[in-house]
Amino acid sequence: MDAAAPKPRENQGEPLPRVDARLKVTGQAGYPADLPTANIAYGALATSSIAKGRVTKLHLDEARAVPGLLDIVTYGDMDRVDRPKFGNGSATSLHERTIFHDGQIIALAVAETFEAAEEAAQLIRAEYEEEKPTASFDSPGTKTVPAAGKSPMLKEDVKAGDFDAAYAAAPVKIDARYSTPTQHHNPIELFSTTALWQGDQLIVHEPSQNVTGWKVELARQLKLDPTNVRILSPFIGGAFGSKGPMTPRTAIVAVAAKRLGRPVRCVTSRMQAFGTQTYRAETRHRIRIGAGRDGHITAFAHEGWEMTSRTDAYVVGGTSATGRMYDYGSVLTHVSLVEADRNTPGYMRSPPETPYVYALENAMDEMAVALGMDPVEFRRINEPKTEPIGKKPFSSRSLIQCYEQAADAFGWTKRDPKIGAMRDGDWLVGMGCATAIYPTAAAPCAARVRLTSDGDVRVQCGSHEIGTGVRTVAGQMASERLGVPIDKVNVEMGDSSLPPAPVSGGSISTASVCSAVLKACDAIRAKLAAAATSEGAPLAGSHNEELDFADGKIGAKGGASAKIEDVFKIMQVGAIDEYAEFAPKGATPGALKKLYAGLPEFHGGDQDEDSVKYAFGAEFVEVRINRHTREIRVPRIVGAFAAGRIMNTRTARSQLMGGMIWGIGQALHEATEVDQRYARYVNRDLQDYLVPVNADIKDLQVILVPEVDHAVNPAGVKGLGELGNVGTAAAVASAVYHAIGKRIRDLPIRIDQLI
Ligand code: MOS
Repeated sequence: MDAAAPKPRENQGEPLPRVDARLKVTGQAGYPADLPTANIAYGALATSSIAKGRVTKLHLDEARAVPGLLDIVTYGDMDRVDRPKFGNGSATSLHERTIFHDGQIIALAVAETFEAAEEAAQLIRAEYEEEKPTASFDSPGTKTVPAAGKSPMLKEDVKAGDFDAAYAAAPVKIDARYSTPTQHHNPIELFSTTALWQGDQLIVHEPSQNVTGWKVELARQLKLDPTNVRILSPFIGGAFGSKGPMTPRTAIVAVAAKRLGRPVRCVTSRMQAFGTQTYRAETRHRIRIGAGRDGHITAFAHEGWEMTSRTDAYVVGGTSATGRMYDYGSVLTHVSLVEADRNTPGYMRSPPETPYVYALENAMDEMAVALGMDPVEFRRINEPKTEPIGKKPFSSRSLIQCYEQAADAFGWTKRDPKIGAMRDGDWLVGMGCATAIYPTAAAPCAARVRLTSDGDVRVQCGSHEIGTGVRTVAGQMASERLGVPIDKVNVEMGDSSLPPAPVSGGSISTASVCSAVLKACDAIRAKLAAAATSEGAPLAGSHNEELDFADGKIGAKGGASAKIEDVFKIMQVGAIDEYAEFAPKGATPGALKKLYAGLPEFHGGDQDEDSVKYAFGAEFVEVRINRHTREIRVPRIVGAFAAGRIMNTRTARSQLMGGMIWGIGQALHEATEVDQRYARYVNRDLQDYLVPVNADIKDLQVILVPEVDHAVNPAGVKGLGELGNVGTAAAVASAVYHAIGKRIRDLPIRIDQLI
C-alpha cells in the first residue's frame, strides 16, 4: 500500500499530519473512560435474556450480597426521568417492564470495583412472562408498513414518468432481488458513560458525535436546565454513527451518580453493545431496469424493505440517491419498513447509500452483462444532464472523470471481458467496478477564533474529532486565512460548552465547521485590514480585498506589507476574538436558534431548490477466487473520488481508504447472525463478527479527482467521510461474476455461495 499522502492537485490542501496524531499514537489521548476520576464507583448493566414479554419479578438479593455492591438502579428508579426520544436504540429507560428486544437494559449494578459491579449484574435474576418473538424478515409476526413520511430521512417515495409502460416496452430488462445483512458497530473504544455531579451541575464524559444535542436531550430527560449539563468527548475511538444517538444508558448512569453522591462509570461490554447500541438493519431490494439495445435506460424501479423495532420507525430509504443516480427516463421507488422484536437500528457509515447503492450497482452490472456492454461504457451512456426526479442540475458531478482516472490507474483495458477468461495459476481473476455517491449537506455551526498579537490562534468549536481529521482541517482553515503557521494554531473540540456545532454525521462536519471557522477568520482579517490600511498605517490606500495574509504578514498589491504584530500595535489590543455563526444556504429563520437547541437543520443533498448536491466516486476491484477451495481475495482496489475542495489530501485519503476497506468488509466479511428462534444476536464479539484485517487488504489506491464547486457552501467542501464505502461491495460482486460467472446478490459473499 502506498503510504505517501497524495500530492495536492487543483483545489486541494496540503497533506499536513493530524494535529492529534502524536497524542493518539503515544497513548496521551484521553478517551472518556480512561480519565482518572477521584472516588469513582463502577456500574455494570444487567440485560434481558428474552426478546419479547415482561419482567414479572427481579431477584436482587444475591447481587446485593456481593461485597462492595453500592446500589442497583432498576424499575421505579427512573420514574421521575423523562423517556428517551425516538432513535436512541431503545425507547425505554427502565420506565416499564415490557421487553421489546433481547439484551434490553433491566438494571444497573454499582459497586466499588468494576469486578464487583460485573459480578452483581450477572447475579441479577429476572422472571419473565415470555412471548414468542419475531426475529427478522421471514419470521411470522412481522408487520410491514410504508416507510415514506415516517422519518425525515425519507420524505417520499420518489417517482418520475411512467415506469410500468416504459419497462413493459423495454427490449432488454432485468428483475432481481438483493439483500444485505444486519451489521453491528464494533469500535475499538467501547461505549461508556462517566457521570459526575457538582451540586446541580452534571458532567458526563462519554464518546459522542453530538455533544450539543446530548446536552439538551439529557437535560430534558433529567429535567435540568441545559446550562447545567456538560458533555465532554475530546477523543473518540471509532464512531461512524454508533456514537450519534444518546442511548438510555447515559441517564441511568447519571441517576446512579446522583443517588450515590459519587461519580459513576459504566463501560458496556462488547457483547452488551449489540443489544444496547444502534446497528445497521438488514435490507432487501427488488430492482427492475429496462433499457434499449443501445444501452439507454428507460425504466428504473427500486423497492426496498428495511428491518426496524416495534418501538421506533427507523428508516434509511436510500432510494432518494439511487433514484437520482442515472438518466433513467422513468423512476418508480417504494420503501417499506418491517417491524420485528429487535432493538432499534440506527446510523452506520452512509446509512442509506451503503445498502441501496449496493443493490443498484450490482443490478447495473447485471444489466451491462445483459446488454453485452462494458460496465464503464454503460454508466457513461446513462450519465444524466439533470437528475431525473426534480430535473434539477447537479451542482457539480465528476463521475465520468472518476471512472476515467480510476480505470486508467487500475488498467481496466487489460481486462478480458469474457467470463472466467483471466487466470493466474489456481486463481480465477475477476475485475469489476461500481459507482460511489453520497449527498453533500451542511448544517448551521458556530465557532470562535482568537488571534493574539504573538500570532497564536485558538479555534473553538463544539464539533467532534471522531477520527476524520476535522480538528486538523479546521486548524488548516484558520492557518490559511490568518497567515499563521499551523503549529501556532490550537483547536478545541468535543465539549458542549464550546460554540455549538451540528452532530458529526452525514459527512457534514468539514463543510460546516470550516465554513464557520472561515467566517470568524474573515471577521478578524477585516479588523486587521481596517487598521493596516487606515490613514498613516503602512498599507494606507490599499483595498481590503487586495490584501493577502501569509507568513505573519499582511501583503498589499505592489509589494508593501505589514507585520501582523505591528498592526496589533496600531490597534492597541492584545488579541482579536471573533464568534461566528454559519448558516447554510436555504436555512430557515429559526435555523441558528435550533443549532443551540441541538436540532441542526441539514441543507443540501436533494433538498435545495437550485441544484442537487452529491459527491461521486468510481471503484475498481480485482478479486481472485481459488479454483479448488473458492477462497476469495481482493488483491487490488482503486477508487477515484471527487468531492469539491479537499482540505487535506492526507486526511481525505485516509477517510476514503478506510471507507473502501470497510466496503471490502461489507462485501466479504461482516454479518450479524440472528438466532431466529429467540431474536438474539449470536456472534457478539470480534472473534465471530468478522471484519477485514491487514492481511485482507493488499494494494489499495485512492485518487483525489480535482473538482471546484462554489455552490455547496462557502468552504467549497463536499465531505467524503461516507463516500468510500459506497459501491465497494457491488464492485466486488461484479468482479466475482467476471471471475466465475456466478451472480451473488446476498451479502456477504462467502465461500459457500461460490461453490
Ligand atoms: Mo454517520 S452514520 O452519518 O455518523
